Amino acid sequence: MRVVSSIRELRAMLKEMRPKTIGFVPTMGYLHEGHLSLVEKAKEMSDVVVMSIFVNPLQFGLNEDLEKYPRDIERDCRLAEAQGVDILFFPPVEEMYPPGSKTIVSVKEITECMCGASRPGHFDGVATVVTKLFNIVQPDYAFFGMKDAQQVAVITQMVRDLNIPVEIVPCPIVREADGLALSSRNVYLSPEERKQALVLSRSLKRAQEMVECGERDATVLRTAIESVIQESPLADIDYIEIRSYPELVPLEELRGDCLIALAVRFGRTRLIDNIMLVAS
Ligand code: PAJ
Repeated sequence: MRVVSSIRELRAMLKEMRPKTIGFVPTMGYLHEGHLSLVEKAKEMSDVVVMSIFVNPLQFGLNEDLEKYPRDIERDCRLAEAQGVDILFFPPVEEMYPPGSKTIVSVKEITECMCGASRPGHFDGVATVVTKLFNIVQPDYAFFGMKDAQQVAVITQMVRDLNIPVEIVPCPIVREADGLALSSRNVYLSPEERKQALVLSRSLKRAQEMVECGERDATVLRTAIESVIQESPLADIDYIEIRSYPELVPLEELRGDCLIALAVRFGRTRLIDNIMLVAS
């Protein structure tokens, strides 16, 4: 595996490799099996796998965890290499944001709800850095986890709107054996919070069972999810949303491709989880 921190060097390296197909996995590092599943899929679909590790300051709010976001580049290098990443792009902040930048990419409407409502400016930061990374890497395919379902909807919309020549490949959520969705932020949880955080996946499973048994009323489903989450005294609900996917229009009745998405705080840690359902 080659580790590169300069854009110029990365571009030169990739130029040598074309016309091989390039699969790209953007991350903020502190890698776990969720990230590695994206690499696995990238290897299946492309000749060369590029991963980026960049904790993007632009997508963090002022009172968020940018400073304490977990980082361990040595461990990440070992994991990425063992998983078969060919090129790891690990730029410093000044390489991605030299002084004097004046452009942001802003996707409208579908960024205003859910995580966008709780984290103003977050998706502008994501859309901007992902556009820059796409321009730098120029991948044929880019792999994103459905753990961040709204992010997948935003990136897919952006690529379409801006005619960026890349295919976005959504990949399934990877979970711990007990159901907790893997996240770099899970390390923030105390043992008790970690235990209680299981209410997220349990509440989604409960909703899925209800839909399978014929329930279509979003209010009934939301109430059921809420009551499972409230079994955890440490849980502080940010949102429970039931929306069409990928349009993210709120639903009263489930119909077609639906997303049930949650954001819940445990102490200072905000966790998200979701489930996609097809209701006929
Ligand atoms: P990060 O949170 O590091 O996630 C990188 C990728 O891994 C995203 O596509 C995310 O959805 C995926 N991922 C995280 N946990 C997962 C899980 N449990 N199962 C499957 N996939 C999972 O998302 C970002 O970074 C950033 O916003 C980024 C796109 C890199 C832009 O800065």
